[in-house]
Amino acid sequence: MRLGIGKNIVLSGFMGTGKTEVGRTVARMAGMAFIDIDDELERCSGMSIPEIFAEFGEPEFRRRETEAIRTISAHQRAVIATGGGAVVNPENVELLRRNGVIVCLTASVETILRRVGASRNRPLLQTEHPEKRIRELLAARQAFYEKADIVIATDGKSPQAVAEEILDRVASWKSSGKGQ
Ligand code: S3P
Repeated sequence: MRLGIGKNIVLSGFMGTGKTEVGRTVARMAGMAFIDIDDELERCSGMSIPEIFAEFGEPEFRRRETEAIRTISAHQRAVIATGGGAVVNPENVELLRRNGVIVCLTASVETILRRVGASRNRPLLQTEHPEKRIRELLAARQAFYEKADIVIATDGKSPQAVAEEILDRVASWKSSGKGQ
């Protein structure tokens, strides 16, 4: 399936909502390139994300994230997976929206906890109570996630099913004229 649009499909959403796996599936189905912002950031920094947080702290991670978004958002016809905190900064959203439709993936706290609760790769969840942290972060970010052009719930759905839903919804969004 080809979308026939030059726009990027940008996936936002909390950690554990499936942005990377779903993004790869969408890219394969639509014949688009796939770019993961966290992967690019790690490649450019020569460090892992936990290392960047440990060595320089979150503000420096966010600065590098915006730098990576500035470069990557200039692409066309790519599926771009963002890190879970990227859309909290309006500058990132503006950059990503210039050339793309923003699709936010959502999941319940239980699903998120099951998918990433024990992950060592999520510095923000390295606490005694990951569930409490997830709830706090979700509450603080909810309003930012809701600003996406399209919002899709992922609970109980396979990556393939979510990818198909994204392609359908993006096609309707485009034909409604909102993407002009
Ligand atoms: C973060 C999410 C992570 C990564 C970093 C910070 C966040 O990306 O960017 O650990 O602030 O939610 P994923 O959403 O891909 O896990």
